[in-house]
Amino acid sequence: MSDLTATVSKESNNIKVEGYEALKYHFHYTSSVFDVNDNKLAEIYKRWGRVLIVMDTIVHPIYKDAVNKYFQHYNIEVVWKIVNGGELHKTMDTMLEIVDAMDSFGTVRTEPTLVIGGGLVTDVAGYACASYRRTSNFIRIPTTLIGLIDASVSIKVGLNHRKLKNRLGAYHAPLHTFLDFSFLKTLPVGQVRNGFAELVKIASVGDKAVWDLLVKHGKQLVETGFGYKEGGKDVIAPGTEICHRGIETMLELESPNLHELGLDRVIAFGHTWSPTLELTPRIPLRHGHAITIDMAYSITLAHSRKLISDAQRDEWFTLVSSVGLSMDHDLFDEELIANATEAIKKTRDGKQRFAVPDGEFGKCLFLNDVPIEELQSVLRVHKEFVKARFGSGDGKEAYVDAGDLGAEPEAYVNGGKATNGHGDDCCGANSLKRKNINGAPAPATIKAGGLPIDATSLQGANATLIGSAA
Ligand SMILES: NC(=O)c1ccc[n+]([C@@H]2O[C@H](COP(=O)([O-])OP(=O)(O)OC[C@H]3O[C@@H](n4cnc5c(N)ncnc54)[C@H](O)[C@@H]3O)[C@@H](O)[C@H]2O)c1
Ligand SMILES: [Zn+2]
Repeated sequence: MSDLTATVSKESNNIKVEGYEALKYHFHYTSSVFDVNDNKLAEIYKRWGRVLIVMDTIVHPIYKDAVNKYFQHYNIEVVWKIVNGGELHKTMDTMLEIVDAMDSFGTVRTEPTLVIGGGLVTDVAGYACASYRRTSNFIRIPTTLIGLIDASVSIKVGLNHRKLKNRLGAYHAPLHTFLDFSFLKTLPVGQVRNGFAELVKIASVGDKAVWDLLVKHGKQLVETGFGYKEGGKDVIAPGTEICHRGIETMLELESPNLHELGLDRVIAFGHTWSPTLELTPRIPLRHGHAITIDMAYSITLAHSRKLISDAQRDEWFTLVSSVGLSMDHDLFDEELIANATEAIKKTRDGKQRFAVPDGEFGKCLFLNDVPIEELQSVLRVHKEFVKARFGSGDGKEAYVDAGDLGAEPEAYVNGGKATNGHGDDCCGANSLKRKNINGAPAPATIKAGGLPIDATSLQGANATLIGSAA
């Protein structure tokens, strides 16, 4: 919610309007958002007696009974809008479907639409709410780790346009965000790992206490969905502390920079070369794996500049390897480093602004003076180090799957029939068909130009590449 105070002044033929916007939005930690004994959410909807809920086709069957039961208990009518998930459905068509649902429902501008799901659904539905009647309210309940600790911490909403990731969007704060980590119970481990990478990011350069907890509990946290899956009880407490601190650190770092005008961003750690790398393999890497490769290389760079010790570097690599995140990739090569460096400089006002840990984890330094020859020689050191200690450096479940994409990756890459029953050109599978991206050498700008899966949640690659900003 925002409120504007404005003054109007006139001097000869000019009129000046000066306004200041107060921005207020709330986060609520809860362990049981749909427990009928917890009336916080219901209290908000009581005055309306009804709620329009947006969910994706995967999350809906898992949680619909619990949600129905909750609102029935409070005598609040539920109307569902179920949308296809996956990056291929992060489109204007999906957004317009949500707008149509709001119209049929007769949404009043102040009546909050309830959006439940991963970062994808909260982004698209949030954008529908940002545009509906110029602005309308919404409430977010993230259900993925990325949603909980990253997407729902920001006020950015949006969708992909043609091949361009998050090309259309807005800054639109929800009224409330309910943060309930028990959703991780049903989240596939591959998705938990994907989100874990963002916690590694924030801890490495923003919060030493979180870093220490990750080192201690990381493997078990990933394997048990932060303690909510079987055998995980012991790590619920440290997992909760990690997530809460991660969210709060992120809010403290980014809230003064909500519109991203400041370019020295601590949370850009891992997001320099990854926007290009993520899209380069034939089937794209998951965002978490791409940023971990980028972070791992940045750690090698920090080590080679004597910003961190051997022991610190080893601790860092040991953690990410133990949780199954990727540390290197064959296509992460000298050419990609050169192209990606030039690309990212365009979004960073001509500077490198490489974020690296500064002396210890939890502190950040921005490098602006790294010659390409140094980047390339550090890459050679990096590859040798990973190979000697960890083999290929490949992570587990490192590539996007049908859930991430909204279509079977193979069918999608081949431009053939999508196997989700939606027909030939469903999900834009043909229109978005990737070209020149089967791992064969091709300029990174071409290799990276095919698919809106860039997923850089920070400052994406340049305009000729894929021009992303989530
Ligand atoms: N707004 C921002 O600042 C911001 C930040 C980061 C990422 N993002 C965006 O978020 C999107 C990625 O988000 P994501 O990783 O949450 O992906 P997602 O929303 O696609 O969810 C991943 C998969 O998990 C499924 N899922 C969600 N919750 C589940 C649960 N509790 N149990 C079982 N399955 C579940 C989904 O159906 C989907 O198949 C990208 O589009 C990215 O651009 C936005
Ligand atoms: Zn990210």
